[in-house]
Amino acid sequence: MNQVSASAPGKLLLFGDHAVVYGHPCIVTAVDQRITATVRKNGTDVFFLDAPDMGLTAYSKTLADLGKKELPKSVAFIEMLYKRFLEKYPQQEGIVVTTKSQFSSQFGFGSSSAVSVAFAKALTSLYGIEMTNHQLFDLCYQAVIDVQGVGSGFDIAAAIWGGTIYYVSPAKVVDQLGSTGESPLPLAVGYTGIKADTPTLVRMVQAQYQTEPEKIGGIFEQIHQLVDEAKSAIESQDWQRVGELMTANQKLLQTLKVSGVKLDELIRTSVQHGAFGAKLSGAGGGDCMVAIATDRRSEVEEAITTAGGQVMHVKLHAEGVRLENA
Ligand code: PMV
Repeated sequence: MNQVSASAPGKLLLFGDHAVVYGHPCIVTAVDQRITATVRKNGTDVFFLDAPDMGLTAYSKTLADLGKKELPKSVAFIEMLYKRFLEKYPQQEGIVVTTKSQFSSQFGFGSSSAVSVAFAKALTSLYGIEMTNHQLFDLCYQAVIDVQGVGSGFDIAAAIWGGTIYYVSPAKVVDQLGSTGESPLPLAVGYTGIKADTPTLVRMVQAQYQTEPEKIGGIFEQIHQLVDEAKSAIESQDWQRVGELMTANQKLLQTLKVSGVKLDELIRTSVQHGAFGAKLSGAGGGDCMVAIATDRRSEVEEAITTAGGQVMHVKLHAEGVRLENA
């Protein structure tokens, strides 16, 4: 095969943010805003990347230089992943990679994880290498750790397995919640307009944990219990309870000082306008908030807009990574 394309979905973290980095579970849903990576061999010893949606065009590097020198953020995951791939499966031949995104990398939907997974899937199938989901996870997760040094890999798991999953890092537990098909989860999603800096926030929580291990460890324990309860509440479609648990999770995240003024405002207004509960999604500081709202969902979405947020209409529980031209 000369050329292979694969696509992977973005994600929204519903419960367990931050605690998941310390071995506790989280619940994440895949969102049907996909990134596609197309890979072909080029017969030279150069790696080419064209990722216009990530602000990068005509990037190139010789195979010998992969992973060396400062890497532009948008290319770092793909380049490190390719380097790791070549260590495992040595090839002399370079490749051309092009990516195409259905969403902006600003929203916090997990563009780096989705693009890494789509690329890994396309690359391995280009070389006829069969990988299980767990092997694909290991390859991608290694690149995340190489680049960021921290991270639970929940976003990689969502991009690979899709659906809505109860996850323990690093892919020790990946339990699907609910059947395939569209999620019944009545979720309103608001984007703050602020780009979150995930590694910085993760390191900030890490510093707190080192200074006050008992207090912060206790908060992680409380989050763990709440995630377990949320799992059952989602499975029994008890939306009122799911909402209450979101609000409880948000309070604990506020104690960890990872929320932000805009997030708090969108969360507050959602609850005032009929949401059962709401919280930030991901590292905090910015990106998106999520709210559970059934009958009054449009009222909640209007309130989010009035407060200066951008309502994101996304399909949840999306399909995981898939080949596009197999
Ligand atoms: O900011 P996001 O959407 O990439 O989410 C980060 C979630 C954390 O739990 C804070 C970090 C992680 O790797 O799990």
